[in-house]
Amino acid sequence: MTRHLLTLDALGRDDLLEVLDLATAPLDATLYEDEPVALVFEHPSLRTRAAASVAVHQLGGWPVEFTGEEIGLDARESAEDVARTLAQTFAVAALRVRRHDVLERIRAASPGLSVLNLLSDAAHPTQALADVLTIAEAHAGGDVRGLAGLRVVYVGDATNVTRSLAVALAHLGASVVVAAPPGYQLVPGGPEDALAIGAGPSLVSDPREAARGADVLYTDTWVSMGEESEAARRRADLAGYRVDEALVDLAGEGCVVLHCLPAHRGEEVTDGVLDGERSWVWRQVFHRRTAMLGVLAWLKGGQ
Ligand code: CP
Ligand code: NVA
Repeated sequence: MTRHLLTLDALGRDDLLEVLDLATAPLDATLYEDEPVALVFEHPSLRTRAAASVAVHQLGGWPVEFTGEEIGLDARESAEDVARTLAQTFAVAALRVRRHDVLERIRAASPGLSVLNLLSDAAHPTQALADVLTIAEAHAGGDVRGLAGLRVVYVGDATNVTRSLAVALAHLGASVVVAAPPGYQLVPGGPEDALAIGAGPSLVSDPREAARGADVLYTDTWVSMGEESEAARRRADLAGYRVDEALVDLAGEGCVVLHCLPAHRGEEVTDGVLDGERSWVWRQVFHRRTAMLGVLAWLKGGQ
């Protein structure tokens, strides 16, 4: 059966652990031997593109990259016809898309094509896999099964990144708290719904209360890709949710700070925090590739 990774909630706990185990297993440089892998980007990317391209190479394959402008998903031709076309040349297509439903339509139109989500407006699963690997390294000696009881606090706009992070951590038994103002909080339903899993994350509005005793403080941009027209309102509404030195001081002694990046220094996070000794953001970037190796290996397991 063809494997896909659109969201971590569809993946479930067992497959999540399989992906994470594959990420840290010895690398099989022949897994994608001489195989092209399509990488499609409707939005800009640095980390995800670097991780995916290099991981494909490391597994013996070669990436073929397309921008949204070149392909014109639903503009030059339908997403379904793009999918059918890609399926003639590729066994795996990894896409960063503006709208999550486009990924679902691509999967439906080309059953033999493995589809990997490299970020949509609903989810960023490969980021969350890297986040879990980083948190495990910081707090559990690298054991992704050792996260139960950790307090992971997300502060700011509950984004695609928040949704995937909360699902991954819910599967792994960590305690997740999301501190966001009204209108920016996690909402139930839709793809990548952590609120439908077990106890799910706690939703609060006070970032200071949330930060007390945190093992991890995590934030993301206040203006995600595609939300640029709302930037001024978002910056005003979220101004009280900056991760600064005072907030980090409220957290536990061993608290680490994570950010998926790109960071907007002085907005959602200060220079002092991002560059400070609690920051693990560069290790997070490192694990983008570790995670991508695991995902690409897992996708092959179903073929
Ligand atoms: N975190 C992340 O996905 O970064 P890029 O947008 O640069 O890929
Ligand atoms: N929430 C951000 C994540 C960027 C990696 C966005 O979607 O732009």
